[in-house]
Formats: sequence, structure tokens, C-alpha cells
Amino acid sequence: MASFKDRELLLSEKSQSESRIVTRSYQQRRRFSFLTTICTICFAASLGAFGIFVSMTFYDCMVEGNLETNATDTDFEAGDVVSNSPQCSSIPHTNRQDCWPQSGVVTQHKCEQKGCCWNPFYGNSPMLGGVPFCFYPSDYQGYTVTSVQKSDTGMKVMLRLQQPSGWPNDVQNVALDVTFDTAQRLSFKFFDPNNARYEVPVKVSRSTNHVTAANTEYNVDIPSQGRFYITVTRKSSGQVLFSTQGASPLVFADQFIQLGTQLSTKYIYGLGEHRAAFLVSTNWTKLAFWSRDQPPSRHSNLYGVHPFYLNIEEDHNAHGVFLLNSNAMEVEVQPAPALTYRTTGGVLDFFVFTGPTPDNVVQQYTELIGRPFMPPYWALGFHLCRWKYGGIDGMKKVIKRMRDAKMPFDTQWNDIDYMRKHLDWTYDTKTFNGLPDVVADLHQHGQHYIMIIDPGISNVQPSGSYPAYDDGLKMDIFIKKPDGSAPIIGTVWPGTTAFPDFFHPNSSAYWLQQAKAYHDMVPFDGIWIDMNEPSNFVAGSESGCPDNTLENPPFVPPVLLGGKLKDKTLCASAKQHISSHYNLHSLYGHSEAIATKSALDIIKGGNTRSIVISRSTYPSTGVHSGHWLGDNNAQWTDSYYSIPGILNFNLFGIPLVGADICGFNGNTNTELCTRWMQLGAFYPFMRNHNTFGTVDQDPAAFDQATQKIMRDALNLRYTLLPYLYTLFYRSHVDGLPVVRPLFFQYPVSDYNVTYMTDVQFMWGSALLITPTTSQNTYKGMGYLPKDRWYDWFNHSYIDSPGHYITFDLPMEHINLQVRGGSIIPLQSPNVTTTLARKNNFIIYAALDVSGSASGELYWDDGESMDSISSGSYNLLSFKLSKRVLTSSLVMGGYQSEPMILGQLYILGVEIGPTSVTANGKIIPPVDYTYINKMLVVHNLSENLLQPLQISWLV
Ligand code: GLC
Repeated sequence: MASFKDRELLLSEKSQSESRIVTRSYQQRRRFSFLTTICTICFAASLGAFGIFVSMTFYDCMVEGNLETNATDTDFEAGDVVSNSPQCSSIPHTNRQDCWPQSGVVTQHKCEQKGCCWNPFYGNSPMLGGVPFCFYPSDYQGYTVTSVQKSDTGMKVMLRLQQPSGWPNDVQNVALDVTFDTAQRLSFKFFDPNNARYEVPVKVSRSTNHVTAANTEYNVDIPSQGRFYITVTRKSSGQVLFSTQGASPLVFADQFIQLGTQLSTKYIYGLGEHRAAFLVSTNWTKLAFWSRDQPPSRHSNLYGVHPFYLNIEEDHNAHGVFLLNSNAMEVEVQPAPALTYRTTGGVLDFFVFTGPTPDNVVQQYTELIGRPFMPPYWALGFHLCRWKYGGIDGMKKVIKRMRDAKMPFDTQWNDIDYMRKHLDWTYDTKTFNGLPDVVADLHQHGQHYIMIIDPGISNVQPSGSYPAYDDGLKMDIFIKKPDGSAPIIGTVWPGTTAFPDFFHPNSSAYWLQQAKAYHDMVPFDGIWIDMNEPSNFVAGSESGCPDNTLENPPFVPPVLLGGKLKDKTLCASAKQHISSHYNLHSLYGHSEAIATKSALDIIKGGNTRSIVISRSTYPSTGVHSGHWLGDNNAQWTDSYYSIPGILNFNLFGIPLVGADICGFNGNTNTELCTRWMQLGAFYPFMRNHNTFGTVDQDPAAFDQATQKIMRDALNLRYTLLPYLYTLFYRSHVDGLPVVRPLFFQYPVSDYNVTYMTDVQFMWGSALLITPTTSQNTYKGMGYLPKDRWYDWFNHSYIDSPGHYITFDLPMEHINLQVRGGSIIPLQSPNVTTTLARKNNFIIYAALDVSGSASGELYWDDGESMDSISSGSYNLLSFKLSKRVLTSSLVMGGYQSEPMILGQLYILGVEIGPTSVTANGKIIPPVDYTYINKMLVVHNLSENLLQPLQISWLV
């Protein structure tokens, strides 16, 4: 059998010298090794109790392996000599740069023809990915520098190709423009000076006010002649931030563009949207970027595309790198550590952000791509949804039981079952008869309503009966077939559909018209845009796709399924107004988010905030929309993976993000859903949603004891909302992430623990959340960084040296720690944010070891769009030191609602007070508990719109 023969060959090759040829393609080798491992596991298991059954599995498995490997069986040859020049043999295997990244068979001959080294390696190659057999020599020529023109604020460099790359249509002369954008941001762009190429049509704030080299925090080194490289270093430390030296060389062919860089350390984050731990593995990880309707799964290209990473340096500084390119792309992260971009089109438009703190990196990134939008206050409340409520009565029943159970609950959502025959901008007047009344009732209760809209517009309704299609045709806004003759037709929920081209100049007017007409009937408050990768249930189109180089480029990143770009979406060669779908595909959701948000803003009268939640996203989508992490499963692992997902989107400038709480696919259960509601209470965007046919999972569907736990979790979130809202304000104005990994606050920790922690996370700089993401777990380890930490519930503190502690995790408990030194603004909760906003404020001050703390509160009417631009807001600054707490108004532009301080908690007060005064008046009575060193002042009635000073004597 061929597969066994292959195995024998592989084994014998491993034990012999490597100076022979093995002509297996890299990807085939990878699949084979994976299958072999699985089969071996199956075989081992078959020796146990399940003998016959598992043996059959083993047999099937090897037959599959057989099928997988058959094709290459004859490719094995022996006897040739490997490339053994010093330029090949001097490269350690971890530093090899893949010269044959495409699928297909590679031979020593083919490899060497490309000017590359051939040396099969069978060391500890991991199961997925591995050491390249065919790799670039250390003196690979590629491009050389022909001229460098320096100016005060950058350089113009010309490069010339010295040897064919092996890819079709090499660009012989490549230009490189280097610009000192700002002191902390460098940009450099490789392009074809002789032929205009596609560039990403996303607005980024390029600097117009460049700085001179003397005023940057970075140095840029490019040789004036000879082999090309670019190296960017940090001036203060000499640390390399980006360098092509020793990394994959520049290739610039029409449909294959490559560049590699060294990484500073193996601590690298970002590069979404993928399902993985937060720390990206440098173990030859190949990440594909091509938006896809793909339920979160490992090693898959998912809904959005974010070619941005943050990298930690040796001395704990951080920098970021963003490649503004939207073509189907692969990023390989290698053990050197290094990273290689391989994209299928466009130009290489790079930005390097020098930080030096992780916070600064995200700030500098969002300064470029745009700061996240400021959500309305209600959007931070609890959202409830499900697919198939069983008509309007089912939905009303759930709303009623949520209210009866006194669950904090702000927004009711509808999935596609509200629509007539799944048609956008309609509702089913039979099954959802009275929907406008339900929405009116929600509004009367201070609640809100959001419904789903998919981009696919049915093309088969009787002419004149469905404006969404008729208007679209008239306005000519649908994406066209590759030959441009008519709208391209795919299939989504309503059956066959056309797809609006949101890059068409008429598309915003078209979308607004549809949204407005529907809003006149059903006055929704936000829009959920789904299926916008765009998703298509047939590959390419109803009439297939042509066979051309856009559909079948010479290199395809490892996209699902089987490396076809058209899979689950439109033909790559479909025509959009400004370019091909090949170029614009991964921007579809982004372009729809812009059109949707702008329609909402107009419909809401121009000055009322609303929200869009989009499944597909691209850098800068956060300016217009939030995101949820898609179709997860009601499984514990999915609750865990939601955390790296949320951390990533906070790096990507989309802080309003959450996962489907309790799980979307499959039946949840009481324990999982309880823990997930507790975790979800700390998602910036908190929505519980599940698919049809699964058990009810709204909090009110559970038994009384469970309801209490879920209600407590919701009440805790609602208590913390003034703090969360303030974090969103900071995110909007300064670009700081809302949810942060521990290392943002603690970049230095023993054994770099904080670089690897992604179950625990922080809200801002004050709150540390340690959730439970495993079943039957009532005790768990959590890391407490070196600091003073207060337990939210029992108020005691620990001065942690930076170590793991064991947490008790009873079912009803959420592990929440407050960092000493923080002051957080709170409010008592209520069943909606509309009501909770009216409650008095609570100041919660957690003192650090020196008895000091600080914090702030942002407050406005919660919904005006111009609150910040018109100065109609209050910004309060809190400081506590030497037993004096002051609250001062940094901005006092919103006076139309009272802001009363009703309670004060001060934690870490070592000596009980003899008296407490507020603005000079003594205020009795005061609670002080010596055991947990907490001073509480109830029944205050202090006006926070005036400066306030509260002090105590001992
Ligand atoms: C997609 C969405 C999911 C939604 C379903 C039906 O799978 O991701 O959230 O419920 O479509 O609209």
C-alpha cells in the first residue's frame, strides 16, 4: 500500500543522512504527518477495550491517508545531492524562510531552479506546519537598491529585480516610499511605479504633517546600493522593530507579494480573525486572511480580517505593525522568531507603531484607522436574542418572563424569523403580527429593539412587489457578474439573491431608502448585520465562476475549503464598482457597516446614537460598528475562546465585542449557561443568543436558584456601567482598549506569566476578572500580578508579590478583584439602564499601599451624538491621598440631570476614622469595619456637579 510505503520511506529517511531528495510537497507532507499521527493514536486505542470498532477506524483512517498520499507516491526519488553551499547550510532550521509556500509538488530541481536551498528536515516537526524543505539561501538576491533619495521627512527608494522570483509576472522595478508620519509612527509602501495597482479604499488618517528624522523615535536603515533590506529600530534601545534581514525576501509579482520581518520576541498578538489562544504561536503558524462565513474553529479563516500585530520587545516595550492590504493573504509566524506576509495582490502598505507601552500601540493604531465610536449608554446593557422565537407570542412570552423575573434587560433582538420569507426590510405580518406594538412597548419600558439584516436581496419576488430588489436594480447598485452583464446571483436564506455593492456611489442612498421605509413601520434602534463576508450558500454564484487568474491565482493562502477563494462566497472575479471582488472581498462587511451606520444616523434624526453589530470586520470597522464572535457552540471550550477573541478585537479597535453567551449551536445546560452569564457580564457587548431548535437560554428560563445567580451577575454589570461607559469614552477619544490583557497593566512579570495569560482579563486598569471556563470547577488558580488587590465581595486585600493564588469558585461567585489605587464610579442597578442611570452614584475607592487612589467618570445624556463634540458632557476627576478625596469637574457641560453622590466606599483604610467631613460639614453616621479595613458612608447627598472634598480624621 502506498501509504505504508510512504511511511517506511519517511522513517528510513529520517534515520539516514539528509543529503537526498524527497519530493513531497510541503502541504502533502503536513497532511500525511497529521493523518499518520491520528491513525497511530487510533491504533494505540484499538489495543484497548474498543478493539474492533477502533481497529476499523484505524483501517478507514489509513485508507484516507492512502487517498491523500497516493498522488505523490511516485515522486520519491533518491540520490540527488542537497544544496550544501554555506549560504544554505549555515541557516539553522528554525530560521529557514519558505521558498515554496504554495501547494503542489516541489522537487529539489524545481526548488534549486528558483535559486533556493533544498534540505529535507524531519526533526521535531510539529503536527501542523513545519520546517520548509525548500528555503531561501542567505545571499538570495531578489531586489537590489538602485537609488535612494532622502528628504527631511522620508526616503524614496527604487529597487530592481535581480533574479526571477519564480512567480508569474514579476514587477521588475519596485518603488518604496518611506515616510516619517509622526514621531511614533513610520509608514512605508512598496508599489509598482509604472502601473497603478489596487490600493485598499479604507480611509486611514495618513499624516500630512510629517516629522523629520531627528524627531522620530525610530531609525530607518536601507542600504544605498546592493541587496535590499529595510531595518527599523527603536532609537532609545536599539531594539529592532521591523527588519527584513534574515527574513523572507521581497517578492513583488502581480499576484504574489511577499515580505518577511524579524520579530523582537516570540510574544506576538493580534492577526485576526482566528480562533486560538491570545498569544500567537511562533511554531510555523500559517494564518489565512479571507473573510468567511465560518463558525469559529481552529486553523480557519473566520469572519473578519485584521493584519495587525503587537509584539513585545526584550526589554518589555511594545510595538505594532499593520499591513494595509485586503487581498487574500497568508501570514506565517515562524520560530526564529519571524513573520512572513504573502498576499495575492494590491501593494504592501506598512505602518509601524513604536508604543512604547502596549496601550500606546493600540492608541497609535486607532489614531490611524479611526477611534471606536461612542456607543449609546443602553448598548452596554443586556441584549437578548434567539433564532426562532416561535412567532410574536413566543417573543412576548420571553420579554414578559424577563420582566417578571426582574432581570436587568435593555434590548430585545430579532433574528431572521421575523422577516416575511427571510426578505430584508419586511416583517411577517402573520407570525409577527403586531411587531410595531411590541417595539412601542419596549420603548415605553425604556428598552430598545434591534433586528437582523442580511445583505442578500431576493431577486425572484414579483416585479413591483419588493422595493429592496426593484430599487437596487434601478439604482444599479448590485455586484455584477464577472462579465459585467447583470447582477451576480448567489443563494442565502431567502433563496437566490443579489448583493448590494456598498462601494457603489448610489449604495448609501439605496440602503438609507430601504432602512428608512422599514423604520417608518418598525422603529428599530440598531441594526445587526450578518452574513456579510459575504456569505453565499453556493460556491461563487448560481451560474458558477469563470476559469481565470482571479479565481485561480498562482498562490492561494490556506483558506477553507480546499483553497478555493469562491467557496462560501461570490466569484473572486465578480465586478464591484471600484474594483474586482478579488480585491474587495474582505471589505464587504466593513463597507456594509459604514452604509448601515450612516443610514441609522440619518434615520435617527442626525443626533441620536445607535449601534450596528457586524459579523465581518476590517481595520477601521470599529469607527462604525461593534462585533460579535459568531456561531460558537454551547461548549466550555467556546466560553474560553471567547476571551482571546474579545482581547483581540480590543486590539483591533473594535471594543464593543462579545460572544453568544451560553452558546449558539447545540443545547446549553444550567451550569455552562450560569458560568457563561457570569463571564458575559464582563463582555463589553453582552448578548445571549442561540439557534433554532435548541433549549431556551434566556435567564428567566431557568430555575429560581439559577435565575438568582444570573440576576446577580447582571446586577453586578449594571452597577459597574458608569465605569464601563467611562472606559468607552477613553476608547473613543484616546483609543485605549476597554478590555485588556494583564500585560497591558503588567508588562513585567516573573516568567513572563502575564504574556501568556488569556483566561483572566482586565476592564481598564482597575478590574481583574478571573472567570471559570471549565465544568465542575469550584476552585481554580488565578494569577495576581504584583500589586494590591481587593476582593470585590469581601473587601479584603492581598499585597501580591506576583503569584498564583487559589480562588474559591462556588457556583454563585464571580472572581472580581480591584487594583489598589483605583477609584471607580458606580450606580445601583435597575432593570434597565434607562432606570439605573437615574440612581445616585457610588464612589468606590481602593487605596494602594501608600493610601492613594485615582479615577474618573464620564457622563452625558447617554445618547446624543454630539455630546463630546459640543462639550455637553461632564468629566469628573477623582483623587484620594492623605485621607482627602476630591472630585473635580474637568468638564461640566452636562447639567440637565442631577449627579448625586449617594454612597462612598473606601477600601484599605488602616485606622478607623474619628470623623468624616464633606465640603467641611461633618457627616454622620459612618461605617468602619476594622477586619476588612473598609470605610463606608451611606446616605450621602452630595452634588457631583460641584467640586467636592471628603476627608476623614483619625
Ligand atoms: C448566522 C448568524 C447567526 C444567526 C443565523 C440566522 O449563522 O451568525 O447569529 O442566528 O445566521 O440568521
